[in-house]
Amino acid sequence: MKPNLRPARPEFSSGPCAKRPGWTPEALKDAAVGRSHRSRLGKKKIVEAVDRTRALLGIPADYRIAIVPASDTGAVEMALWSLLGARPVDMLAWESFGEGWVSDVAKQLKLKDARVMKADYGRIVDLGAVDWTHDVVFTWNGTTSGVMVPDGAWIADDREGLAICDATSAVFAMDLPWPKLDVITWSWQKVMGGEGAHGMLVLGPRAIWRLESYSPPWPLPKIFRMTGSAGKFSEAIFKGDTINTPSLLCVEDAIDGLKWGESVGGLKGLMARSQANLAVLEKFVAERNWISFLAADRKVRSNTSVCLNIVAPWFHGLPADKQAAAARKMADLLESEKAGYDVGSYRDAPPGLRIWCGATVEKADLEALMPWLDWAYGEIERDYGKA
Ligand SMILES: Cc1ncc(COP(=O)(O)O)c(C=O)c1O
Repeated sequence: MKPNLRPARPEFSSGPCAKRPGWTPEALKDAAVGRSHRSRLGKKKIVEAVDRTRALLGIPADYRIAIVPASDTGAVEMALWSLLGARPVDMLAWESFGEGWVSDVAKQLKLKDARVMKADYGRIVDLGAVDWTHDVVFTWNGTTSGVMVPDGAWIADDREGLAICDATSAVFAMDLPWPKLDVITWSWQKVMGGEGAHGMLVLGPRAIWRLESYSPPWPLPKIFRMTGSAGKFSEAIFKGDTINTPSLLCVEDAIDGLKWGESVGGLKGLMARSQANLAVLEKFVAERNWISFLAADRKVRSNTSVCLNIVAPWFHGLPADKQAAAARKMADLLESEKAGYDVGSYRDAPPGLRIWCGATVEKADLEALMPWLDWAYGEIERDYGKA
């Protein structure tokens, strides 16, 4: 039987994620559209986005924050291209995005001194084996496997290398230990439900010192460059003078998201919303034997990009292509019923479901989605279970 109730907002994509509750285009009415981003008004908006970000997240005063081109990828690439090569690097990966950074370092930068530490989907690498005399590149939350680092205890306070952290689906939903991180990046379309376009790049003092004391041997395109004449750190980029033109419409939307974050209790409130969302899924999974979390270990289970496996014996008996087709069918059924959009697992991940539980998702909408999961599962069991 199809459930009667549908989620009021069936958006459960892991990026771009649901807009904040109550969002309408009216939220953008004060955007500085048609104005120069270098005008007093344009720059004021950029600085406001940066300042509200610092306040909401509690980013230390000596950390610099910039809006940069090309979303989270742009921010990560700026850091990798500008900072790496000074010492050996440990590259940590347990899903597709982490693997993307590994491939950049190995195949594009061709760093000889790169040690790759990988884990399969659903698991995490041995964080205790990281060498902190090396630079270390990792994702805080692996969006495609739903596996996150449990905390920052494994990051040495007296590290010699830099801790370079892609935090795009973690920040605003997880507690980041800023002093343990030297480079932190994210994009707007994740936990805060902003618009995709720009990246946020946060640099700690040790990263700035590296920029000023080391020049990589490869050429750097203009949009990656964070130093100016005589190798001096380009402070202005971190004071609202963006490298190139940002969308002031997207900036306005980011400000709107930050104001909403403040209104729901700031970082603590945002994290609590995400945890409450995860709890809905945990209850659902605990009460059923056909579904489980891809991240079996609770300590590393993401509270944003929650990845689920179908574990029924009939499903496991299917060949890999049929498993993928059955899981995809479930996601398609949910979409066509307008019960849940974009809940299929990522293309490189094991077949299953991925349901975003970040702060902009309402708990009531997840609760309304759960009966639809039972229904869609019943449909695929009927179609594929007897094959
Ligand atoms: C962990 C992680 N890194 C990088 C990216 C790429 O982000 P963007 O599309 O903002 O460049 C994503 C996108 O989902 C992600 O989840």
